[in-house]
Amino acid sequence: MAANEDDFKKVISHAKEFGFVFPSSEIYDGLSATYDYAQNGVELKNNIKKYWWMSMVQMHENIVGLDAAIFMHPTTWKASGHVDAFNDPLIDNKDSKKRYRADVLVEDHIEKIREKNNKDVAKAAKRFGDAFNEAEFRSTNGNVLRREEEIKKIEAQLSEVQNNEDLVAFKQLIDDLGIICPVSGSKNWTEIRQFNLMFGTELGSVAGDASTIYLRPETAQGIFVNYLNVQKTGRMKIPFGIAQIGKAFRNEIVARQFIFRMREFEQMEMQFFIQPGSQMKWYEYWKETRMKWHKALGFGDEYYRFHDHLKMAHYADAAADIEFKFPFGFKELEGIHSRTDFDLTQHEEFSGKKLRYFDPELNESYVPYVLETSIGVDRMFLAVLSTALKEEDLGEGKSRVVLNLPPALAPIKAAILPLVKKDGLPEKAREIMDVLKFDHNCMYEEKDTVGKRYRRQDAIGTPFCITVDHQTLEDNTVTIRDRETMEQERVAIDQLQSIIGDKVSMTKLLK
Ligand code: GAP
Repeated sequence: MAANEDDFKKVISHAKEFGFVFPSSEIYDGLSATYDYAQNGVELKNNIKKYWWMSMVQMHENIVGLDAAIFMHPTTWKASGHVDAFNDPLIDNKDSKKRYRADVLVEDHIEKIREKNNKDVAKAAKRFGDAFNEAEFRSTNGNVLRREEEIKKIEAQLSEVQNNEDLVAFKQLIDDLGIICPVSGSKNWTEIRQFNLMFGTELGSVAGDASTIYLRPETAQGIFVNYLNVQKTGRMKIPFGIAQIGKAFRNEIVARQFIFRMREFEQMEMQFFIQPGSQMKWYEYWKETRMKWHKALGFGDEYYRFHDHLKMAHYADAAADIEFKFPFGFKELEGIHSRTDFDLTQHEEFSGKKLRYFDPELNESYVPYVLETSIGVDRMFLAVLSTALKEEDLGEGKSRVVLNLPPALAPIKAAILPLVKKDGLPEKAREIMDVLKFDHNCMYEEKDTVGKRYRRQDAIGTPFCITVDHQTLEDNTVTIRDRETMEQERVAIDQLQSIIGDKVSMTKLLK
């Protein structure tokens, strides 16, 4: 679907209507920035997680899994720097009373300038047709070059105020750029304040600072504190990785984009432990590997771009995002961070335990460096759902809503439909279901006309509809309808396993 707000609203209502995502505790009017995954949503989410897990743990001999607890010793978060530095710079508009992240206001301002350039490029492409050379146009057109310079200047200023943690200069930058509140249209801003994003709670019955524990704001620390346990018990040799999927919690102040930014969300993180000095090689390797993983889904290369960080998190010496073209524009989907030896060194210091690795190749002990890949399951879910959702014009005034999910990710792989609810067709359909269900998540449906049932399956992205009719009883054949082409083919029942298996297998994606 095209990039605009209406399309985004369609995605949200489709997610609700077809059992993908519901607002949390909806009967009490919901809880902001918290969502529940419904019957189809949980299947899609599990398939996304499976695709990631297989690509990390099953495809790499030197990557193993972990499932650490959400609660961790409170000192973990002192050591990691989250207690002192896991802050967002917030600013309020006094007229609309809306609260924003100051860095996001500036980034959105930059994006608007970039959009102007893209519009000029698109106009020129239309004017010059086949003869158009985009690279040449971008490097010679006066307006485009001027705006590029402007972007570079703002990015440098943003980076400087953030790195210096200079909130006064940061506010001045917003004033100087003339940024207005998207709601009130005014420039009537408060000062900028830092806000810590961690949720704290009490352990047991004792109140007070000593017993404050946190809901983890990232899963990564569970990996760091277990690094030596895994290395020793798994006899792992550097380079090796530890992968984990789990919940993380952040008290996000500005959380308005459905499941894009939530207070309770899920991360898929992998920490890759490497020799000090080799981090740039692995940084490039994981950037490329992760981009390939995304592109294998087949949505099109134009949906992805890298964004190199100007301001590093407190632990990183290089960082890039894989950004995805969501219905509301390009936004971060995944982060690839070179975390140096920051975390392990900090944990050594705070715990007093050595977290070193003896490298037989170098014949020396060191604290390994770490390369991290970190992606939000929910953001990945939104990327997949919003891009797969299409309204197709079928001609003659007819249309259909279809979820063009990669078959391996589809919640239901095949729907088994008896043509009518009599003459022994339901029984035959159930026989087929009873065979297929051992390998695939299938659905049996007998209500409504076959046409209506096809449409319902299209809307949840089911790759195949199998219709059982009177001929089935005679010769053990069924029709199998392909979601993408809507073409139907008559095949023998004993061919179904291999037809479905071939189409929905993860192997194609992973290769
Ligand atoms: N361990 C590194 C780390 O947590 P991050 O860039 O803060 O890095 C990684 O988060 C990924 O987690 C993001 O790229 C995004 O996909 C996801 N994520 C972060 N905050 C989120 C939120 N509030 N809601 C949903 N997903 C979020």
